[in-house]
Amino acid sequence: MQIYKEKQAIGDLIKTFKNDGLSIGFVPTMGALHEGHISLVKQALASSDRVVTSIFVNPTQFDNAGDLEKYPRTFETDLAQLERLDKNIIIFSPDPFDIYGNDISPEHFSFDGLEYEMEGKFRKGHFDGVGTVVKKLFEIVQPDKAFFGEKDFQQLQIIRKLTEKHNWPIQIIGCPIDRETNGLARSSRNERLSPEDRQKAAFIYETLQQVKKEFGTKSVLEVTENVKNEFGKNPDLKLEYFEIANEATLKSATKPLNGERYRAFIAAYSGDVRLIDNIALN
Ligand code: PAF
Repeated sequence: MQIYKEKQAIGDLIKTFKNDGLSIGFVPTMGALHEGHISLVKQALASSDRVVTSIFVNPTQFDNAGDLEKYPRTFETDLAQLERLDKNIIIFSPDPFDIYGNDISPEHFSFDGLEYEMEGKFRKGHFDGVGTVVKKLFEIVQPDKAFFGEKDFQQLQIIRKLTEKHNWPIQIIGCPIDRETNGLARSSRNERLSPEDRQKAAFIYETLQQVKKEFGTKSVLEVTENVKNEFGKNPDLKLEYFEIANEATLKSATKPLNGERYRAFIAAYSGDVRLIDNIALN
C-alpha cells in the first residue's frame, strides 16, 4: 500500500504517471470508509490505470467546530478496507497544514445559484469549503476521472459546475447510491445511530419510493403535503426539508416540465444525526 502524506511527494508520483501516459482515477473522501466509498473505488479501479483515494477531513466544509471534532476518524480500518480491495491503490492523506498552510479559510465561489438551494440554506458556507478542498485536491492529483456518490447529489452537481467553470479536463462520474439492506443510504453518520434507530431511518427511503410512485399522477404540492404529513406522524424522525427539484438547476419544481429530469430530496434528523437521501423521479 502506498501512503502519501505530502503533496510534493504525491505530485512527483503523478508526474511519472502523466509521463507514462497512465490515466488517473480519483476518489476523494473524508475517511470513515463504508461500502458506499468502496463502490466508488471499485468503479475507479475498473476504468483507470492508477487510482488515488484521498483521506482528508476538510476543516473548511464544517459549519461548526463541534461537528468537525465529532467527525469519525478511522484511518487504520480505512486502510485495511482499501488494502483488501487492491494493494495498488494510492492513498493521499495530508495534514491540514500541507493543504491550507496557515490560512484555513475557504475560497468563495459562485456555482450559478446551485449553492443556495437545499443544503445551502441549512449549511452556510459548506459548498465554499467543499469547492476549496476539491479544487486543491484536483490541482495536486490531476485526475482524468473523479468519482462522487449521488447521495450528495447537490455536491455532485456543484463539483460538475466547478470543473466546467475552470475548464478542467476531468470527467466527473456520479455513482449510484449504495444502500443498507433496509434501504437506508450508506453514510459515515449511520454509525452514530443505534441499531433500532438505523432500522427506523429506513422510513426516509420508503418515503422517497412512495414519492416516486406519486410523481406524475399527483401535483408536487399534493406529494409534498403527503410527505410532510407522514413525517408529522413519525415520532422518530424530524423532517428538515423535502424538495422535488430539477436535476440541472436544483430549483424547486412546482410544475414539472416535459423533457426535464427531476429528483426528490430529503434531509431529516434521527436524534442529533442528520441524514440526507434522494431519488430520481423520471
Ligand atoms: O463527500 C465528501 O466526503 C467530501 O465532501 C469531499 C468531496 C471528500 C470533500 O471533502
